[in-house]
Amino acid sequence: MRHLLSTQDLSADEATELLDEAERFEQALTGREVRKLPTLRGRTVMTVFYENSTRTRVSFEVAGKWMSADVINVSASSSSAGKGESLRDTAKTLHAAGADALIVRHPASGAAHQIAGWTAGPDDDGPAIINAGDGTHEHPTQALLDALTLRQRLGSLNGRRVAIVGDVLHSRVARSNAHLLSTLGAEVVLVAPPTLLPVGVAEWPVITSNDLDAELPAVDAVMMLRVQAERMNGGFFPSAREYSVRYGLNDRRMNLLPDDAVVLHPGPMLRGMEIGYSVADSPRATVLEQVRNGVHVRMAVLFRLLVGTDSAPSPANTPGA
Ligand code: CP
Repeated sequence: MRHLLSTQDLSADEATELLDEAERFEQALTGREVRKLPTLRGRTVMTVFYENSTRTRVSFEVAGKWMSADVINVSASSSSAGKGESLRDTAKTLHAAGADALIVRHPASGAAHQIAGWTAGPDDDGPAIINAGDGTHEHPTQALLDALTLRQRLGSLNGRRVAIVGDVLHSRVARSNAHLLSTLGAEVVLVAPPTLLPVGVAEWPVITSNDLDAELPAVDAVMMLRVQAERMNGGFFPSAREYSVRYGLNDRRMNLLPDDAVVLHPGPMLRGMEIGYSVADSPRATVLEQVRNGVHVRMAVLFRLLVGTDSAPSPANTPGA
């Protein structure tokens, strides 16, 4: 693995290895007073975010620091991007400044892929590029942490049915999960108003539905998506009220789910819109488990890209680590 740009690039074996590696890192850190492994000592990891983030940016920073990397955070608002510097020049500058990995969030779909091309040269592969969310395209580490959470709660993804509900049109989380969960053997049903399903969804490895009440009794997990008003150019159809009534996960709908079904949300949540207040705090909701798993998944991704090969032993299992 040279970069992590899309879950569509991951085979079932590669994805499973990353999830296993994340659990090994979790085990290596459990019970330690000092959560510090030497794995990435001397390596420089930079986060470059052109959109807001809490979970992804912080968990990459924690992951890097727990592995002893030097972690540098670059935000567009305080960088020379604000003076008009192009994404290409910024990426090449950070590479020249010593980045071994660039973790990129950008509003343009394909931005991380572009950077991987711009920073590779004839004598230099360039830094590892990790897509931390590109427009409405992909958010691969989110899907990996969701898959890990589902695997821990359900035992296995194979043959499980997962509903991804809501604003699929604007969701990079939905696309990354649709591909990854399907690669790992789950059946994915996208549940959304017709206006919030993307053109081309027929080519995704999913089935689609517009009827949430009809789908809930048959799923093992339901993943609620945030309504991304910032990508709607001021328009919202259906209305926020109608959306909440038809696609919000409320207490009545929780009772339609099988008893052991779980509820995921990538965050940030809009309580009262796509998810009810009490649903978000229910023991069946995995929101904070997802955040915790996100740190370990991002440790695994950094390890695989900066250190590991398929045959390398994990530093999480190395004596003294
Ligand atoms: N799920 C997610 O990407 O959250 P942030 O936008 O807070 O990083």
